[in-house]
Amino acid sequence: MNRQASAEMSQKLFRAKLLTPEGTGRPAPGSGFWRLYDDGALVIDTNGRIVSVGDYADLAREHSEAEKIDLSDKFIVPGFIDAHVHLPQYPAIGLYGRELLDWLNAYIFPAEKEFTPKVADSLSPIFFDRLLAYGVTTAAIYTSVRADSTWKVFEWAERKGIRAIIGKVMMDRNVPDYLREDTRTSIAESDQLCKAWHGQDDDRLLYAFTPRFAPSCSQELLDKVGALARERGAYVQTHLSENSGEIKWVKQLFPESRNYTDVYARAGLLGPKTLLAHAIHIDQDEQRALLAAEACLVHCPTSNLFLKSGLMHLAELLQMRHRVGLGSDVAGGPTLSPFSLMQAAIYVHNARCLPLANSGFDVTPGLVLYLATLGGARALGLGRTTGSLEPGKDADFVVLDLSSFDQSLANRGEGEVDKLLSRLVFLSDDRNVEQTYVRGRLCYERQQRNSAKR
Ligand code: GUN
Ligand code: ZN
Repeated sequence: MNRQASAEMSQKLFRAKLLTPEGTGRPAPGSGFWRLYDDGALVIDTNGRIVSVGDYADLAREHSEAEKIDLSDKFIVPGFIDAHVHLPQYPAIGLYGRELLDWLNAYIFPAEKEFTPKVADSLSPIFFDRLLAYGVTTAAIYTSVRADSTWKVFEWAERKGIRAIIGKVMMDRNVPDYLREDTRTSIAESDQLCKAWHGQDDDRLLYAFTPRFAPSCSQELLDKVGALARERGAYVQTHLSENSGEIKWVKQLFPESRNYTDVYARAGLLGPKTLLAHAIHIDQDEQRALLAAEACLVHCPTSNLFLKSGLMHLAELLQMRHRVGLGSDVAGGPTLSPFSLMQAAIYVHNARCLPLANSGFDVTPGLVLYLATLGGARALGLGRTTGSLEPGKDADFVVLDLSSFDQSLANRGEGEVDKLLSRLVFLSDDRNVEQTYVRGRLCYERQQRNSAKR
């Protein structure tokens, strides 16, 4: 057998309907940005990389030796990206009624106190399985202040196969004694974790220095994180301008800063690898500074509604060309579902779009699906690795059963892809997720208890 034949024999060819973003920009309404292969094929190699994407008839001929997996009545879409979520808060999910600072004190700090290594060991597999069951293949995750528990989270992420950016929370003031860290210890433990885990498994696991938010961090802590993250080439993740009470507090704590964003700018924390959750109440000066820094803004629409924080200016920020991802912010948000996130992003835009009615900018299903996939990947700096079905990228994808609402394949005409995107976003949930693959590895398979049809 020649070498090419043996290489092809170890390839896998998935026959399915493929839906993937194509193009370098961002989808505009009716732009044809999403490409549908009605009878498509996705070919991957043994390293979990995508080799070819195209029509089945062509690729079946070109890769005649590949192992065939027939999913012809299913859809394959790129894996979803949750750009902001708190693992230790999962047991405190769904507790409605309080605003941010009150909610942190009442529910969240106590939950994070409970996050011992033993709890991390039992909670992490459940949490990762849930994310994968929702089709999430990449997540940016906060743990708690505990380094030992964070180590467990990394080990579970490694085992479960999910792609993750993970960081130990850092806080050295204005939090209950039982969570408050000594500044130097916080830095030293975070750096140890970064050295051990950043770049593991060929960059599937990455580290984010995670100063929780300005009020819980001293100037010294913020300054040191800025310098260290740059030195290590690691991420920084934190919260920005989420709640009006929080913003007032930041003004009092950092009187020399022009605004909330300036607190992070002065500490050298802003850059392309900085993930800032919420950014709801930022003014134009802040928007410009964040744009210049190429920082990633994470829109958390379900959380922003759940905690009554406000309505982020998604349309304006996208028009300015900010890099934006979507985040569930569990337990600030009441669900890990990327479908709920995409729907909420549209509803929030609609709730505040009247002044923009003639701007020509709409937040469409194609756009929010982009933010949950390729847009999110680009915002996290992972656009060359994941986010779409493209040769050379890792095979991070979800198999969806959309038979409950998919149109007959015959006569797909003008506008059919938009209808499909609309139904995918508004009618799907985890019951439609059949399988989730990260880097070609099957990480989740749905048990056929309930039918996806309803
Ligand atoms: N601000 C500081 N900590 C948190 C948190 O855990 N969740 C949210 N939503 N905002 C925060
Ligand atoms: Zn958060």
